[in-house]
Amino acid sequence: MGETCKNWTEWLSKTRFASLTEEQRTQTLNWLQLVADIIINSARIKEGDTVIDIGTGTGLLAFKALEKLNGTGTVIFSDKFQDCLDSCQEFITSTKVSGNYKMLLSPADKIDLPDESVDKAIMRSVLVHIVNKQSSISEIYRILKKGGRFSFFEPVIRSNTRYWELVRPENIKNFEAFKEAENSFMTDFEDSLCNFDENSIAENLDKAGFADGEINLDNVESKYIVSAPMIDEWFNNPPAPGRPTIKERFLRYFSAEDVNEYIKDLKRDLTGREITVRTKAIFAYAVK
Ligand SMILES: C[S@@+](CC[C@H](N)C(=O)[O-])C[C@H]1O[C@@H](n2cnc3c(N)ncnc32)[C@H](O)[C@@H]1O
Repeated sequence: MGETCKNWTEWLSKTRFASLTEEQRTQTLNWLQLVADIIINSARIKEGDTVIDIGTGTGLLAFKALEKLNGTGTVIFSDKFQDCLDSCQEFITSTKVSGNYKMLLSPADKIDLPDESVDKAIMRSVLVHIVNKQSSISEIYRILKKGGRFSFFEPVIRSNTRYWELVRPENIKNFEAFKEAENSFMTDFEDSLCNFDENSIAENLDKAGFADGEINLDNVESKYIVSAPMIDEWFNNPPAPGRPTIKERFLRYFSAEDVNEYIKDLKRDLTGREITVRTKAIFAYAVK
């Protein structure tokens, strides 16, 4: 586990922002609100619904669902990790958020609820942390009522710009070897972060039995100026608690000396330059 990140609440509140400038942090927070609004709208929450937020984290979606229910129905804050539920509970207690809610400690692939017991399931960036997406999607199908709706968002990390695409190859020692290593770990089928895309998710939804649905792709291009500390953060920030950093991933293929040399080359080549970074994500809903 990385030193900077001990658990999910710490990662959600601190670690994920560590490499960002204040302006980028604000942009990210605004973007998260936008993403949450799209998920909530696409869930078509009605007063009286029972809504489950799977992998609720610090409750980004669940609190919006509570507002939407306006004192009716129930929101189930569900997560595999107790620190997340504690954080949501603390927020409710300290701010006196109103509405009916339950806290449920459950992994997404074994949700402690009866069959056909919820109207809506909402989720953001959770499947990306689960190796076997099919078992979680089938479990969500199981707990939804007939006609129930599953609305979710996931980043498609394997389609993101790779580091080797940003650099000028002639400035990088062992460029081809580093390119090959990055391509290899970014398409690893054993790695939850990279083992899926929109096509595999569509297959998972079909296989689970969902009758209808839609997957929309969000392709974003962002431009920014690179700084050396930013490159350190790229390599040393864990993508989730307990998951290997980019540096640790490269260390599976190269010696520490070679990886440090690569990072130095990247800094020399990229510092002060404007880069364009491509990211892809899925917004989807499925109806049982
Ligand atoms: C990137 S965070 C997203 C949190 C929240 N949904 C949001 O949008 O801010 C991933 C969340 O998934 C949860 N999680 C990870 N693996 C899980 C699993 N197998 N079952 C349920 N939740 C899981 C983590 O505890 C964490 O809260």
